[in-house]
Amino acid sequence: MTDERKKFYITTPIYYVNDKPHIGHAYTTIAADVVARLHRQLGEDVFFLTGTDEHGAKIAASAEKAGKSPQAFVDEISAKYSLTWDQLGIAPDKFIRTTDPEHKDAVKVFLEKLKASGKIYEGEYEGLYCVGHEAFIKESELVNGVCLDHKTKPEKIREQNWFFKLSEYQKILEERISHDDLIIRPPTRKNEVLSFIRQGLEDIAISRPNVKWGIPLPWDKSQTVYVWVEALFNYCSAIGYVSDPENFQRYWPADLQLLGKEIIKFHCIIGPALLLAIKEELPKAIFANGFFTLGGEKISKTVGNIIDPNDWVAKYGSDAVRYFVLREVPFGQDGDVSEEKLKVRYNSDLADGLGNLFSRTTNMIEKYLDGDVGEFVSPPKDLSGASDAFYNLDFSEGLVLIWKEIAWANQLIDKAKPWELVKTDPEKVKELLLNLTALLYDIAKKLAPVLPETAQKIKEILESGDIRKPEPLFKKIS
Ligand code: MSP
Repeated sequence: MTDERKKFYITTPIYYVNDKPHIGHAYTTIAADVVARLHRQLGEDVFFLTGTDEHGAKIAASAEKAGKSPQAFVDEISAKYSLTWDQLGIAPDKFIRTTDPEHKDAVKVFLEKLKASGKIYEGEYEGLYCVGHEAFIKESELVNGVCLDHKTKPEKIREQNWFFKLSEYQKILEERISHDDLIIRPPTRKNEVLSFIRQGLEDIAISRPNVKWGIPLPWDKSQTVYVWVEALFNYCSAIGYVSDPENFQRYWPADLQLLGKEIIKFHCIIGPALLLAIKEELPKAIFANGFFTLGGEKISKTVGNIIDPNDWVAKYGSDAVRYFVLREVPFGQDGDVSEEKLKVRYNSDLADGLGNLFSRTTNMIEKYLDGDVGEFVSPPKDLSGASDAFYNLDFSEGLVLIWKEIAWANQLIDKAKPWELVKTDPEKVKELLLNLTALLYDIAKKLAPVLPETAQKIKEILESGDIRKPEPLFKKIS
């Protein structure tokens, strides 16, 4: 039987396994999980992919430093990523590892196709290689001879490489992107990519002779494929480019790719050009999120200011972390995060806002209606605009709109004073509680993609028909 549902394929970057995940990696992955859940809620056939990027010089060096074999090292760190996603309630349909045989086989087929396209040639390259970036960088990008992002001196490299004729794709990429055949959001990122393309594209080296921890070129075993070229292909290999062509046909092209703004050139230029060369469709849309900063500085392993999301989950619960990262910073912009800020949001929005509305309502149902509120009907359509905002990736705005409803409902209770009203007009109190229950049920439905655990708890209790003093949703933290 064919699946008539609309398909929706969403991806995150695959993360380097040189170290354990931090809150920045969690950010993009939580956002993707929310979008995946939202589209599942809409009845679509969703495929949500994340995973780890495990080859290349940077990983090999980290393994060596840890005194482990590359394979043992990547196994360990990759497992930390998937465990962390589990802790955060992130449920991908697939977690790809670039050391998977399935990926390696697909990359070989892809490389053969690329070679057959006539768009690659052999040549010599001389340049500065930044291992942190896993990319050649320009002299002009250095400050005092040092890469600003990684605070390291790049290596001067002169070597034989295989090259890809990226320069030939300037016109077509400019056309596709400016016409929104390939949508790039937010608009600042689209402009950034377009102006980069308009400056002219240079051919790129797609193989490295001296990097052993990688996938060898099928026709030249002395070289391994450049780690970015291999990594960009994960979006195809993961859905069965070679191992399950039917699945590949069903899900490709990706409908939405989320990533951080520092890797848009790879995703909006190199990746698409490679796909054009092998005659595959381009992803439909790419959205770049901004950076999380701590005291104004980008959170990164290099700076050493990382926040382990597992620590926050242990203290505040996974839903609170998911809520915080999406509420605190408008998606697409940079913004500061810290445990202090998380605590403020936790207490004011989750405990005093949603949590309080839920306990007041359920306590009154127990007290005045003996736990049975009766049949409630939740609104058939979301009038708040929150679901539309989520759909449009404006998570913070969606949450603001829902919290307006929560504040309104809490005020309604304060004004109606049901504890007094019950003495004179119990029917009115019943009606009020019925309306509050319907509203809470609707709020839980809208919040489910962001707060899956909390939404489930609220729904179960309200549906149970016997509503008695449930545990608080969020206990206040001092
Ligand atoms: N392995 C490459 C991606 C290959 S995709 C084909 C890579 N990995 S990474 O481990 O460095 O992860 C980068 C991604 O992590 C960013 O693009 C972003 O999604 C996320 N973030 C890492 N640090 C971040 C912040 N401080 N703030 C927001 N997102 C951050 O690049």
